[in-house]
Amino acid sequence: MRTLLLGRQGQVGSELLIRLAAHGEVTAPARAVLDVSDLHALRRAVVDAAPDLIVNATAWNDVDGAERDPKGAYRLNRDVPALLGEEAARRGALFVHFSTDFVFDGKGDRPYREEDRTNPSSIYGSSKRAGEEVLEGSSALVFRTAWVWSLTRKSFVSTMLSLARSKEELSVVDDQVGNPTYAADLAEAVATLVTHEAARAGGLFHLAGGGSVSRYEFARAIFALDPRKDEHVLRAVHPVKSEAFPTPAVRPKHAPLDCEKAARVFGVRLRDWREALAAGLGA
Ligand SMILES: NC(=O)c1ccc[n+]([C@@H]2O[C@H](COP(=O)([O-])OP(=O)(O)OC[C@H]3O[C@@H](n4cnc5c(N)ncnc54)[C@H](OP(=O)(O)O)[C@@H]3O)[C@@H](O)[C@H]2O)c1
Repeated sequence: MRTLLLGRQGQVGSELLIRLAAHGEVTAPARAVLDVSDLHALRRAVVDAAPDLIVNATAWNDVDGAERDPKGAYRLNRDVPALLGEEAARRGALFVHFSTDFVFDGKGDRPYREEDRTNPSSIYGSSKRAGEEVLEGSSALVFRTAWVWSLTRKSFVSTMLSLARSKEELSVVDDQVGNPTYAADLAEAVATLVTHEAARAGGLFHLAGGGSVSRYEFARAIFALDPRKDEHVLRAVHPVKSEAFPTPAVRPKHAPLDCEKAARVFGVRLRDWREALAAGLGA
């Protein structure tokens, strides 16, 4: 299998790069070589790579920045997957793309299923939803995931670990609930299921870490499981409401994803967030 992977330096992309190599040749241009927002260059890259599998791990992920630059967010989150979906269909290649829990408003009282009504409350969420819409009816595989973390880039986990070493007191929101997803686990699952018979049919799937938790409880687990706790200067962590941290973009409050469909179709389920956190931290 010949793969074109975009976003090789990202949290998910870097983990995918390691795992997709097991399936054959991988072409994975870095951002410095291919800016995917240059759609002509992107199309040329697809033609040159002649892939059987295209994986798009690039995105406009700056949630607050998207409010200031909707055009930029839509270019990355809608126009790029639209072009890749079109090129994949032309070549009969499988296209894998990622979306987000931010397509929901977070006002529900149970984990969201794939068919639940979307209602994004930010430009980032709307642009990612637009990226799903352009792929509807195609044979692309779209995975909605959430709260992706790794230690290799800035993430909630790496930020908390660094704050524990620099602050004596910290306030963390306790009214945002989601599924922490370890980038390595997500990449492992995706690299496995692309070879599954059912992958060819495409579709929209929720794929996130098992279990859900508030940001506050997640932060406490990070501090508790940090194997280098002796370096902490942190003495107190306070739960606060989202209103205590006004941001340009509104975040969904209760947006855990129900991942049963992926388990049913592909037999793939990401482990519980706490187990993944312990493993990722080397606890
Ligand atoms: N992170 C989360 O919490 C989260 C939650 C839900 C869904 N998702 C989705 O999951 C997917 C993977 O996310 P991630 O956390 O792995 O993202 P990430 O770590 O931010 O990686 C994205 C990668 O895309 C690259 N990129 C951005 N703009 C580009 C451009 N114009 N040309 C070429 N490359 C460009 C970035 O380059 P640089 O290395 O130069 O920055 C980065 O390497 C995305 O679709 C994202 O929307 C993420």
